[in-house]
This record gives sequence, structure tokens and C-alpha cells, in this order.
Amino acid sequence: MAKRITDRVTWVGKTDWELKHFHGNELSTHRGSSYNSYLVRGSEKTVLIDTVWQPFDHEFVASLREEIELGSISAVIMQHNETDHSGALPELMRYLPGVPIYCTKKGEAIIRGHYHPQGWNFVNVRTGDTLSLGDVTLTFIEATMLHWPDTMFTYMSGEDILFSNDGFGQHYATESLYNDCVNHDELMYEAEKYYANILAPYSQMAIRKINEILSMQLPVRMICPSHGVIWKENPGQIVEQYLKWADNYRERQVTIIYDTMWNSTRIMAEQIAAGILQADPTVTVRIMNAAKDDKNDILTQAFRSSAVLVGSPTVNNGCTYAISGILEMLHGMKLKQKKAAAFGSYGWGGEAVRQISASLAASGFEVVNEGCRCQWVPDQAEIERVRNYGAELAVQLAL
Ligand code: FEO
Repeated sequence: MAKRITDRVTWVGKTDWELKHFHGNELSTHRGSSYNSYLVRGSEKTVLIDTVWQPFDHEFVASLREEIELGSISAVIMQHNETDHSGALPELMRYLPGVPIYCTKKGEAIIRGHYHPQGWNFVNVRTGDTLSLGDVTLTFIEATMLHWPDTMFTYMSGEDILFSNDGFGQHYATESLYNDCVNHDELMYEAEKYYANILAPYSQMAIRKINEILSMQLPVRMICPSHGVIWKENPGQIVEQYLKWADNYRERQVTIIYDTMWNSTRIMAEQIAAGILQADPTVTVRIMNAAKDDKNDILTQAFRSSAVLVGSPTVNNGCTYAISGILEMLHGMKLKQKKAAAFGSYGWGGEAVRQISASLAASGFEVVNEGCRCQWVPDQAEIERVRNYGAELAVQLAL
């Protein structure tokens, strides 16, 4: 159901309460999500910014028709064409033949690649191009690789609204449309999880783009992303937070990610944690099981940490399935200025620790030592050795 934001802007998106996985199974969405679409009415023209995911295309168009006679829509602005925003475009365009679709050149290519349209009227835009709606003007700002090549933002003068698509978004389903109407801690966790899992690899571009927009000195009363709540109360807070997250963000936290077969590597994880805290009780230590905890929550904890310790028993001359997956995901995040070390139990061979260290180094972590191994099941002497390793590690990590 449509929700009025201002006299000229109406939310016409879809809240997806049931969504628990996004990007196939790559990203967990414990709190659901929303696909935000906005109807913008100027004194002369009305346009639609973005659509929703394809499973909701008929529902989206039907709901939109309750809000406006579709023939009154002068243009569709497609800021980013991943299917969660462009999926309903084919159904919508059945009712809007010839209506121009404003998008970047890459956006047109992506729409063509996805939907193979015939006869759609594309208008390619670049940074600084404008579309007058009469009493208000939309200005387009390319935001390449935030997080796709086609991404752009749209600034609306008159209302001072920045439509930011995925940027500043959160997978957070709520009936409350605004940031000051939801639980702040939940919201910030979902915003951080979104940044860590989707935008972190593009942090340098995020810094450049945010500074470019700040240098334009545009008044911004609201930031309207394509997922989650609208930043209405102090929208600058999420911009400032993004600048922190994008700048090699780290807190005084060590995240210990392990997997275990017969508990020896779990015991090592716990003893390393005890050793770190023995050496420095003020550090936050977070232990997570790669096979049992949510992988995207694990990555979020790794993102906010100064150091990441990864442990696996050796199985078939390598790591477990869960640890291999986490290492691959850590590689993709392109994190910088974080320290790391490996640990694990083994019966013979014991290759996992060396492999984890190599993977972490290749992913940009500073691996601070050769790691810690235990053969078979640690006895009391081994437990003390591993705990001492943790205490020495606390010094090496220099948290
Ligand atoms: Fe929300 Fe990149 O799509």
C-alpha cells in the first residue's frame, strides 16, 4: 500500500516480510527486506523511481494503479537494475509503452541483458544530467560500482531528497517507514551487515562518491534508499557512518571463527579467547562456529574487528567445508588493515593451518604468526600452551 512521504513523494514499494535469503543463498536477511519504489509528482510531470522484485510485479502494478492512473507517469527512473529493483519493469512497461526509461548506459545494457525488451525507449543519463518535473528537478549522479556498474543516485531539488538506491540501505522489513520509528540498534546492525556484505569491496569508491556529493553542498533533508527505512531524522548520521565503515573500519574486537569435528579445534578457540582476555580484558572477543552461525553475521563481526582468527581441523589434507566457504567470502570482502592468525587440530599432516594462513594473507590480512596446531585431543599441558599462545597473540595483535 502506498505511503505518502511528502506532498510530492509517495512510497509505492513492497515490504517483503518473508525474505530470509537474498542473492540466492549468499546473504541472509533475518529481518526481511523491502524494495522501495518512489512516485515523484512535480507540477508538470510525475515519474517513478525504481520498481520491485519480479515475484511482486503484479501486486506492485496493481497497487500503483490504486495510487495513480498509469498513463500519468511521464518517465521511469531506473537507478540500478539488479532484479530486486528491475524485476517488475517488464510488467510495468506493458502499461507504459514508449514512456522513457532514464538510466545510465550500463543500466540500459543490464536491462537489455536481463529482459531482452523490444521497443523500450531508453534515455541514458550521466552525472549532472537533469529532468525537470516542473517545480522540482531531478539531478542524476552516477555511482558506478556502488555496487554495480550501472548504479546511480538521484537528487530531488525542492524537497532536498537524495534517492540512493542500494547505498545506505538495509535489509530490514518494517511498517515504520523512517529511521526514527524503528529500533536504532537493530537498524544500525542491519545497515552495517548490508555494508559489510555488499559494499565493503567498493569502499574506496564509496569514500570518493560521498566526498563528491558532499562537495556539491546539496541540502539533504532525507535519504531514500531502495531497501529498508528512509533516513529522515538526521540523515547525515548514515553518511558519517559510511565514511567510517569505508575507511578500513575496525573496533577493538577479535573474532575467532572456527569449525570442529571432534571438539579439539573448539577447545583451541576457547583457550585462545581465554588467553587473549587474560592478557587484555578490555578487548571484545567474539567466538563463532562457521558451520553453525550465520555466515553473513560472521562476516559482519569480521568486518568490525581488528583481527580475525580462523581455525579448522585438518580433514582430507585441507580445511572443513564451512571454513573454506568463510575464507572465500573473506577474500571477496577485500578488507584492509586487519590482522589474522590460524589455528587447528589434526591427527596427521595438519595442513589446514598453513592453508588458512596462506588464504588470509592472499586476502589482504596481516598474518602475525605461523599459527597454532594441536595433535589429536589437547591435554592439560596443551591447553595451557594454547592459552599462552592466545596471550602472546594479544600482544602481537597490538589491539
Ligand atoms: Fe538491491 Fe543491488 O540490488
